[in-house]
Amino acid sequence: MSNAFARSAALSRISPSATIAITQKARDLRAAGRKDILSLSIGEPDFDTPGHVCEAACAAIAAGSTRYPPVSGVPVLKEAVAAKFARDNGLHYAVNQIVVSAGAKQVIANAMIATLNAGDEVLIPAPYWVSYPQLTQLCGATPVFVSTSAADGFLPQPEALDAAITPKTRWLILNSPNNPSGAVLDRASIAALGEVLRRHPHVWILTDDIYEHLIYTDDPYRTLAQVCPDLADRTLTVNGVSKAYAMTGWRVGFAGGPAPLIKAMELVQSQLTGGASSIAQFAAAAALNGPQDFVSESRASFRTRRDKVIDALRAIPGIECATPDGAFYAFPSCTEFLGRSTANGTVLHTDEHFVRELLETAGVAVVHGSAFGSPGQFRVSYAASQDVLDEACRRLQQFCSSLR
Ligand SMILES: Cc1ncc(COP(=O)(O)O)c(C=O)c1O
Repeated sequence: MSNAFARSAALSRISPSATIAITQKARDLRAAGRKDILSLSIGEPDFDTPGHVCEAACAAIAAGSTRYPPVSGVPVLKEAVAAKFARDNGLHYAVNQIVVSAGAKQVIANAMIATLNAGDEVLIPAPYWVSYPQLTQLCGATPVFVSTSAADGFLPQPEALDAAITPKTRWLILNSPNNPSGAVLDRASIAALGEVLRRHPHVWILTDDIYEHLIYTDDPYRTLAQVCPDLADRTLTVNGVSKAYAMTGWRVGFAGGPAPLIKAMELVQSQLTGGASSIAQFAAAAALNGPQDFVSESRASFRTRRDKVIDALRAIPGIECATPDGAFYAFPSCTEFLGRSTANGTVLHTDEHFVRELLETAGVAVVHGSAFGSPGQFRVSYAASQDVLDEACRRLQQFCSSLR
């Protein structure tokens, strides 16, 4: 018998994240001496975690809160999460309806492992965050994409949702503000989707609200369980501290939802990780319970950068870009340049070729839209300094105008 390494069937159904691959490629180029590489490919705030949050972590260590935490989360954080859902979303979850995990990513993975069987379908509006289809496939289920268009503001349309639902549909995943498009579902759009979902009681809804606080509209943020309270008993509301409090590395996410689902997710977590880091959980409680100025300051900073980046992108002949209402991504189209050649004769057949050549010749790392199920676009993260953004847009303009 061969002793060669063999991957499991489950693993062979998934592939590495394109976002991480491009960010790594940018790092490799830098390490190889290309000091001019500008990375606009990463999905995290460029701020430091607020000081009082870091202090809460130090205090937790000093107080000896360094042992195994309860699987579903330390009580002080679960209470802070319940208060956050009530304050921001008008949602009232009991503590047995809340679970804390190592990031929103683990919350979503737990929910899928706890519920999906082979042959089940998960509806995912495209463009989508790369992990939704991958986690679905890891569980042996099938991602079914609901396409959206730039003309509809990249928002899932009720008719398209209705047409995609089958008896095998287990979940619909909604992500607003959306990564990568920045699209935000307003109350009316959520209500229209809710109308469809009411006709299909077997479909559960997972709302990924991780970018909740990064929204630039005048309307307040809305999530489905709040707009359609009658659907709350089959909705998992997912959120976390990564994006709102610049805490990506602390790995704390959480969810509120029906108690039986939360209990099932807790069981999964008890065998996978045993729960999120106790120290990080005390820090997350301080973030949720403490002063919220950081949130409004970072929102204002991202908004300024968004406006400048969108203006700069739109000034490039051939680039079209909608104004995203949330998150920290612009999602312009590059279809105008496909079929053209670079100065060294490479033909750009796809958005992937476009971003690869942009990185290699102009030193700007962005992510191709096909990685998010939206070919012909590319994602620009504007969570970078204004100087970097200005220089990246200048190089992008130069690159585009050099294509023949
Ligand atoms: C839409 C979306 N959901 C979830 C996550 C993961 O969040 P966390 O850091 O809490 O795992 C990300 C991170 O990029 C994201 O873009």
